[in-house]
This record gives sequence, structure tokens and C-alpha cells, in this order.
Amino acid sequence: MAEELIIASTSDKKSKYDTLIPQIKALTEDEPDLIANLANVCAALKQTFDFFWVGFYVVKNEQLVLGPFQGPLACTRIDYGKGVCGTTWKEGKTILVPDVDQFPGHIACSSASKSEIVVPGFLNGKVFLVLDVDSDRLNDFNDQDARGLEAIMGCVEKVAANQARVA
Ligand code: SME
Repeated sequence: MAEELIIASTSDKKSKYDTLIPQIKALTEDEPDLIANLANVCAALKQTFDFFWVGFYVVKNEQLVLGPFQGPLACTRIDYGKGVCGTTWKEGKTILVPDVDQFPGHIACSSASKSEIVVPGFLNGKVFLVLDVDSDRLNDFNDQDARGLEAIMGCVEKVAANQARVA
């Protein structure tokens, strides 16, 4: 496994994702444990982009439950259809929120959070977790984040599918 993360020395987001994605692929493909992979994905995203908050919520017994994350303490449970995360679970597509105050029902785990992006992950055609990234600046995410985070989610989905096969 890679011990040191290589971070593109540029302010260009696309280059940063292009450098990060193959490393996440390499990091996750030989490790079958989902939690271990989720933890390292959060660390790699935090180290690369210094996101305010980045983490996973995992579907358990009809709720989203807090999983591995990097950043301040966060809400532990989110109901289906609630907040940005619960809505992403319900709609099964990436949601980009430029201003959290404009998103009806946004759940404020931290008052410092100003913009947010949530990406769903699928296993057997159903959402089984979401990746949530928060920023303390307005309008901090764009299409490059959506595409980059979706590619990273693809690595997570692959690991989960393999784990489900051997479990
Ligand atoms: N803002 C999210 C809740 C999770 S925290 O931001 C970490 C939401 O509205 O679902």
C-alpha cells in the first residue's frame, strides 16, 4: 500500500482529482474491509483538499448512520429523505448545494458549514452509503468535484461488491 499520498501541486481541482483517483484505486483494491477503505478515503480527501468535513453515512436499519469521517463532530443518524444526505439516499443521485441555507431541510451539524456535496454509493442497485463533503465557504463545489467524488465512489462500490461476494 502507498504510505505517502502524492498531491498535485496545483490549485486546479481536476489535476488534484486526476492524481488522487489512481491512488485511491490502488489503496482500496487489495483491502477487502469496507470500513478500513472508507477511513483511508476520508483521510486521502482531507489531505488532498483540506475539506472542512468529509465522511460517510452508511445505510443501517432504514437510517443513515455516521461512518468514518475527518473533521468536527457530526450528527450520528439521518432519516430517509431528510437533509441533503437523506435526500441523496432517496433520489439516488449526486446533490450539490452551493448555499446550505437555501436547501429546505438542510441538517446543520456545524453552523460553520456553508456549502455541501453528497454522492450516493450503490450496492446491488440500492444506495448503501453516501459520501458527504462540507465546506465553510459558500459555493465551494462544482462539477469537477461531482465527477471526481463519483469516480472515488466507484472504487468504494467495487470494494463493497467484492466484500459482499466473499461474505
Ligand atoms: N448537512 C448534512 C448532514 C450531515 S453533516 O453536514 C456532516 C445534511 O443535511 O444531510
